[in-house]
Amino acid sequence: MARKKFIAGNWKMNTTIDEAVALAKAVVEKAGQVADVDVAICPPFISLKAVSDVVKGSNVKLGAQDVHWEAKGAFTGKISCAMLKSVGVQYVIIGHSEQRTYFHETNETVNKKVKAVLAAGLLPIICVGETLDERKTGKLFSVVEGQTKGAFAGISKADALTCTVAYEPVWAIGTGEVATPDQANEMHIFIRKQISSLYDTDTAGAVRIQYGGSMKPDNAKALLALSDVDGGLIGGAALKADDFFGIVKPK
Ligand code: 13P
Repeated sequence: MARKKFIAGNWKMNTTIDEAVALAKAVVEKAGQVADVDVAICPPFISLKAVSDVVKGSNVKLGAQDVHWEAKGAFTGKISCAMLKSVGVQYVIIGHSEQRTYFHETNETVNKKVKAVLAAGLLPIICVGETLDERKTGKLFSVVEGQTKGAFAGISKADALTCTVAYEPVWAIGTGEVATPDQANEMHIFIRKQISSLYDTDTAGAVRIQYGGSMKPDNAKALLALSDVDGGLIGGAALKADDFFGIVKPK
């Protein structure tokens, strides 16, 4: 089955509300009518409402960068699925390596978030990926297997089909050091094999797997041409509409 490409911009902790609105407007101007690629932008929480108003009526979808798994209550600083839905969010990034590294995200908390997001009818983008040390010491496959199986634990096949996985080798994030096409595709095929072992080959063949890590207009074409790379999760290059569009429609 052909998988539609999916390019999402993770703006991380960048942009004030005014800057976010301006960037969103520029993205909509360029990519708002694109229909053969799914496009989403994920601004910081405080800009979600304003950006939601900008993307409304276009083909650009709205995503959040994280969520808390509880529905409500005494969780200072946290944001629930219902809150995200109330501003028009559709996608939620879960388990980004920066959350794992700096904010105690584990495979267990990732799984709780995936379950909450699915129960709310939102679409998870589940991030996995090894550190440089894990790659150098040959642990890359076992680490990514644990992250993938951990994220999908207890998730039905029907729900799994609505998930996107983002393979983001930690050593390639924000470093300018992009995974080679061989390194990326090898891991994407491995992740698909893990999904197949949890469900079946049809499910594994339908789940989209994005690549993330220093993806830019000049390397996007080669990465997106790989058999098992179904899109990108873009950090730095998503902060400039021209660069982001250069990945949505690479030349
Ligand atoms: P960069 O594109 O800046 O390397 O970031 C990738 C990323 O972490 C997207 O989530």
